[in-house]
Amino acid sequence: MTSERRFYLTTPIYYVNDKPHIGHAYTSLAADVLARWKRMTGHEVFFLTGTDEHGQKVEKAAEARGMDPQSFTDTVSHAFRDLAARMNYSNDAFIRTTEERHKAACAALWKTLEEKGEIYLGHYEGWYAVRDEAFYGPDEITEKDGQKFAPTGAPVEWVREPSYFFRLSNWQDRLLTFYEENPDFIAPVSRRNEVISFVRSGLSDLSISRTSFKWGVKVPGDEAHVMYVWLDALTNYITALGYPDEKAESWKFWPADIHFVGKDIVRFHAIFWPAFLMAAGLPTPKRVFAHGWWTNEGQKISKSLGNVIDPLALVEEFGLDAVRYFLLREVPFGQDGDFQRKALIGRLNGELADALGNLANRTLSLIQRNCGGLLPEPAAAQAEADRGFLAATGHGDAEGSPAWLAAKVDALLNEQKFDAALSLLFASIREANGYITREQPWALKKTDPERMVVVLRTLHDALRVFATLLWPFMPETMAKLLDQLGVPAEARGVDALATPLPGGIALPAPSPLFQKIQGEA
Ligand code: ME8
Ligand code: MG
Repeated sequence: MTSERRFYLTTPIYYVNDKPHIGHAYTSLAADVLARWKRMTGHEVFFLTGTDEHGQKVEKAAEARGMDPQSFTDTVSHAFRDLAARMNYSNDAFIRTTEERHKAACAALWKTLEEKGEIYLGHYEGWYAVRDEAFYGPDEITEKDGQKFAPTGAPVEWVREPSYFFRLSNWQDRLLTFYEENPDFIAPVSRRNEVISFVRSGLSDLSISRTSFKWGVKVPGDEAHVMYVWLDALTNYITALGYPDEKAESWKFWPADIHFVGKDIVRFHAIFWPAFLMAAGLPTPKRVFAHGWWTNEGQKISKSLGNVIDPLALVEEFGLDAVRYFLLREVPFGQDGDFQRKALIGRLNGELADALGNLANRTLSLIQRNCGGLLPEPAAAQAEADRGFLAATGHGDAEGSPAWLAAKVDALLNEQKFDAALSLLFASIREANGYITREQPWALKKTDPERMVVVLRTLHDALRVFATLLWPFMPETMAKLLDQLGVPAEARGVDALATPLPGGIALPAPSPLFQKIQGEA
């Protein structure tokens, strides 16, 4: 395989100070859909997620539950692993920063930076927010009722302790050049501008060790210090590929094609991370995509407001694939979004159950009843109406190949425009609904049975395309649809769409794909 056919993508590793919520599920979902799409289009994929288990925040959370940090992190890390399984994420690995191989990777990176003269011992004095695990400058701090706060709203405390520093200030110009030479490195553009103006305003050296608590990776050669949790955490992306062993089987996946993150942590990924890597002489990732923030029915999500959304409770109520679909369909990826129950129900009932589910059910029931349950032969004599429909849905270029729609979805997903890909596909599905309504295959049985067969076969072809292109978004339900369509395993990919299925395949009796929610819309 050539390197272009390899694809490495990551989620943030989540703090184990609390149980997973909708925001965590969201980032990983986006990564999962892209991972599945890339595999389906012939890439060798490595999809990584995991948990961030060190630092003061986790230490304090363990303390609050009266547990030692290791047993505490063992418990909570499990909740994240279970979430990934329940959400049907196809991650190839799950990394925990308390693993020995990760501590070794951090130590190796530290030593490299030290050898290259990028680290010095000094003294840190300034504001620190445990909730963000971040240092803030005096100009960033505001005060309310005697308490000082970071711009994120996190309370800060004054920290004064010996500390190792990374010479981040030396990297300011090289970072700016790097952003300029790699315009796709930070997306969306609003985040890119934000990062560039932050870097332009000047970078100070970064404190990368702490002495006032113990729960972290020990600094090699000076065990009074633990590494700053963000240096530790970011390193996970290379630990998982075998770093520092560049001969490891998975090292070929570096540099990452995309790090998915929320907008809250774009600075760490777009400033610190490439600076550490360049300083260590390692290749930099190709892209960091920072998505927006979910609110719940108009309110900021927070533990104190008691409005945290449990993704598993949503799945329980609405079904997994409806939740997967909704999260990526509702909000343009990159923008903030508001979670509204009513909107989810509207999309589930209107788009999934009615537009897609009914189309499949009507088509397949008619094939059962009127064609003996056997897939009709590819339509030899399509009418203008059929060709018009196929062209409008993008299934047909001049040769009648489904390549156009697939290529369009591919281009949109390469820019992480999940919502646009879904809205394109659903525009196509609406065309198919218009076609079935106009052609009335149920009425053709008596008047023109040959024409009926052509219409049903044309609809079947369209459904196969929809099921295939929607599969990364709703893998379980679209696999069920492909089963009902009689598509054999070897014919389930984007490339396979170019070859029509042979007629005569025995189709199973159809059953509904989605359950509508009644009485609440
Ligand atoms: O920051 N809306 O972990 P974390 C959308 N350990 N996404 C949200 C969200 C919301 N309301 N809330 C959280 C950390 N997220 C570090 C990362 S990576 C080397 C270390 C998502 O548990 C979003 O992806 O605080 C955000 O970036 C991430 O959860 C933060 O997770
Ligand atoms: Mg956070």
